[in-house]
Amino acid sequence: MNGLNGKLALVTGGTRGIGNAIARALLDAGARVVVTGRDAAGAEKAAATLAEAGGECRGVALDVSDFNQVQEVIKGLEKDLGAFDVLVNNAGITRDDVVMRMKEEDWDAVLNTNLKGSFACAKAVIRGMMKKRGGRIINVTSIVGTMGNIGQANYVAAKAGTEGLTRTLAREYASRGITCNAVAPGFIDTDMTRAMEPAARDQLTGQIPMERFGQPEDVAGVVVFLASDAAAYVTGQVIHVNGGMLM
Ligand SMILES: NC(=O)c1ccc[n+]([C@@H]2O[C@H](COP(=O)([O-])OP(=O)(O)OC[C@H]3O[C@@H](n4cnc5c(N)ncnc54)[C@H](OP(=O)(O)O)[C@@H]3O)[C@@H](O)[C@H]2O)c1
Repeated sequence: MNGLNGKLALVTGGTRGIGNAIARALLDAGARVVVTGRDAAGAEKAAATLAEAGGECRGVALDVSDFNQVQEVIKGLEKDLGAFDVLVNNAGITRDDVVMRMKEEDWDAVLNTNLKGSFACAKAVIRGMMKKRGGRIINVTSIVGTMGNIGQANYVAAKAGTEGLTRTLAREYASRGITCNAVAPGFIDTDMTRAMEPAARDQLTGQIPMERFGQPEDVAGVVVFLASDAAAYVTGQVIHVNGGMLM
């Protein structure tokens, strides 16, 4: 499938996990891709590995929680490469604890990365997309944004907030040909979930009708669909990818 031939995509947090699989799938669909991570060496290494398997990929350091850095880095990339056609807000962190024990700095770190980071990146690419009269913004949220989750008040608030951001961006820019949707993964096998105790993983697997954690590629396919022309009339939606855990 080469549905994204020549399109330019930015994937935040593309160094590993879901973001890396999204970058791979976008490259396979013909897009040129910029992946970001918090440090230059990690981002450049990820991009080199992705490009080795085919496609044009660049890696840059970009801490999405730093609003001014986001505006500057994206401006610089646009100067070099032109305006982006696709933005995938994927970068995310967890800092779990029950509300009673959650530290203010852990609340702030998660909200600044997962929610404010998506706002900052969307704000930085929209002008260029408007000039092109088209674009795709895809926010990676989470099943827990709908369900809630013990020990994740910060993360859940950020993901639920991102769904509101998604619907607002969809309404603000629909008339300019820019769509904005969210993809809400269930439990996916990445570094983020590998940090869980085996017993907690087993307990969660028992709640998934498909009886397994998802793979990053399960999420990536849906992102490529939303980035493609086939999804031109889809906007403001949250697409759940969770093996049936929530229905
Ligand atoms: N895994 C799951 O079960 C699951 C379920 C639902 C939703 N999600 C969401 O899916 C997305 C990806 O998760 P994942 O499981 O692939 O996580 P992961 O394996 O921990 O990878 C996180 C990625 O985000 C990047 N990142 C973290 N903080 C960043 C920042 N401040 N600026 C830029 N990049 C940053 C990391 O890059 P560096 O370390 O190189 O900086 C890395 O590439 C997240 O938004 C997560 O909330 C995951």
